[in-house]
Amino acid sequence: MVPIQTTFGALLLAGFLGACASEDEQGTAWLKSAETSVRAAQASASDDIVIHGEIGALSVQEIRESLEQPGAHEPFIPEAPLGITSDLAQLIPADNPCTPAKVSLGKQLFFDPRLSKDTTISCASCHHPDMGWGDNAAVSSGIAQQKGARSAPTVLNRVLAAVQFWDGRAASLEEQALGPIGNPIEMGFSADEAAEVLNGIEGYRIQFERIFGGPATPDRIAQAIAAFERTIIGGGSPYDYHIEAKYFHDLGWDEEDETPEETAEREAVLALEKQHALSDAARRGMTLFFDKAECSLCHVGENFTDELYYNIGVGFPSDAPDKGREDHTREEKDRGAFRTPTVRNIADSAPYLHDGSAQTLRQVVEHYNQGGNPNPWQSDRIRPLKLTEQEIDDLVAFMEQGLQGTVPRMKPPRLP
Ligand code: HEC
Ligand code: HEC
Repeated sequence: MVPIQTTFGALLLAGFLGACASEDEQGTAWLKSAETSVRAAQASASDDIVIHGEIGALSVQEIRESLEQPGAHEPFIPEAPLGITSDLAQLIPADNPCTPAKVSLGKQLFFDPRLSKDTTISCASCHHPDMGWGDNAAVSSGIAQQKGARSAPTVLNRVLAAVQFWDGRAASLEEQALGPIGNPIEMGFSADEAAEVLNGIEGYRIQFERIFGGPATPDRIAQAIAAFERTIIGGGSPYDYHIEAKYFHDLGWDEEDETPEETAEREAVLALEKQHALSDAARRGMTLFFDKAECSLCHVGENFTDELYYNIGVGFPSDAPDKGREDHTREEKDRGAFRTPTVRNIADSAPYLHDGSAQTLRQVVEHYNQGGNPNPWQSDRIRPLKLTEQEIDDLVAFMEQGLQGTVPRMKPPRLP
């Protein structure tokens, strides 16, 4: 199984998904026509955020044609933006490769409210591209306005980790995807009921048949959604351009001995760094983040998370705290521990923390600065930081400006 070239994959995706936000593809006729219809749809849409895909707008004929496009079923590796250095080919499970057709199906499902019992809630209700792939609410509301206890994390860059949820209770994106469909206060359905609904819709039936060789089942729904989620990748922040250019700034790079190719490369990298420059405050904040403020003890690596679990004092003291990781491991030492979230594009996803209790990044930094809320289970990595007001502002600037990069933005797709 040889993955096709990423750009080709992206191109196909753009055509398939219609609304994929890539601007630089040169297209075939079918791609162009898909784009035109998207533009028409955008022009007629109001400024209000559209949450779900448009039901019935994707015709059976279009679906049949796209499923027979060359390459539609060829595995591809999603494109990694600057700063994401993992070999994504190693992170895509061999038994669920991304193909343009499958990712397109997953995208439709992600935005389809018919996966919920009362057809009002889709995954995008709580993970919307225009809200940092979260929902900008302290805690999420599911069907019949029922509220959960935790804030919806972004689904950005979840391809980089296997284990999912604040407490790590799902072992894969496939396993995760079935959780909300069956959750009584999220989508309130069961995965079997959802599969039955999808099998009653011709455009979906055709896609499941062609892609999986059979009707919709809970596992196939999960596979398609997970394949789509693995393409939601963000990077390319001023910090990433800074790191890319660092090599040329560091002592030891000798401009005298450059080949013409090296000169061209250096100039290109430095020009990009300039174009995406860190602000002065963000630059100072970056130094604090990795040094005095010790944020990188846990917010580390390409996605600014070690994917480990800590009690940092959120929600304490309390008589009935959210037990967090303890719910999953049944070990008291894990009480109130939650997984370190990414801080990439964090400016998009206020409010913050697992319970949405911080409205601003400044409040989060103040929480750390005071040493969390000491409790018997708090991580010993959390202690008073003695940051000045200026330093707090600088840390916020680093996260707000320095870590703000590109994330996939897209309109909800047309649905069968
Ligand atoms: C009613 C709101 C709601 C809906 C609908 C919803 N989610 Fe979530 N999602 C959440 C919340 C809240 C969490 C965190 C729960 C936890 O960790 O205990 C979460 C967690 C996740 C995570 C884990 C992210 C991480 O950082 O670990 C993924 C992935 C995800 N959801 C995808 C989906 C998909 C796919 C669907 C649709 C099938 C969906 N969600 C529907 C609210 C929602
Ligand atoms: C001991 C590990 C650890 C250290 C050190 C740490 N964090 Fe965190 N961070 C976490 C965990 C765990 C959470 C989620 C906690 C929760 O919600 O209960 C979190 C949450 C956050 C959030 C909210 C993200 C969101 O999606 O809601 C931000 C912002 C943040 N940290 C920034 C920082 C900054 C800035 C520093 C340095 C001053 C720092 N962190 C130091 C582990 C850590």
